[in-house]
Amino acid sequence: MASRRSILIAGMALAGAGVAARSGLAAMVPTPRQARGPFYPVDIPLDADNDLVSVAGRPGPATGQVTHVFGRVLDQAGRIIRESVVEIWQCDAFGFYHHPGDRGGKADADFQGFGKTMVDGDGRYRFRTIKPVRYPGRTPHIHFAVIAPGYRTFSTQMYVAGEAGNAGDFLYRRIRGEKARAAVTVDLRAASEIENAALAGTFDIVLPNALKLG
Ligand SMILES: [Fe+2]
Repeated sequence: MASRRSILIAGMALAGAGVAARSGLAAMVPTPRQARGPFYPVDIPLDADNDLVSVAGRPGPATGQVTHVFGRVLDQAGRIIRESVVEIWQCDAFGFYHHPGDRGGKADADFQGFGKTMVDGDGRYRFRTIKPVRYPGRTPHIHFAVIAPGYRTFSTQMYVAGEAGNAGDFLYRRIRGEKARAAVTVDLRAASEIENAALAGTFDIVLPNALKLG
């Protein structure tokens, strides 16, 4: 039977944990940073909204499997960061970026390739895009940048859970630690309730304290 003393200590520990959670002392795993890479757009497209499957003035839709990506932008204490701007860019369904440096501008004109959005009042963002595909030398990924008040610009890449190419990818391998890899590896599930034949995944981004300004 537990003594009064051990019950008292257990109770104090629980109370302590509660204080830590409320005050945000329970730090979250920061999302690993990854370089922007060579294919950030030279010219931001005229249509740069959060629906990359449809391009203004184009017959569309983009080739590829429609994929909805949702998430929040948080600090390491788990608090949302309001007014954060989230950008994504990725190659088309055939592996080409809208970038003059990528093998001659072959990218799908019906795919926007880049999108930008501001988080809502609950810190949430959302994109409609295509499932990322592999291209020579890389496992499938979506590039992300976050411009958040009080932080230097953050960039990373989102990977897809279960992709055979992840383990051998030179940039994925650079991320040290299971928790850090898990933080950028997203499970894409069937989401026909959102859109026929679409996938969906959740990618919360935790900005590292090290990027705080001031
Ligand atoms: Fe890339």
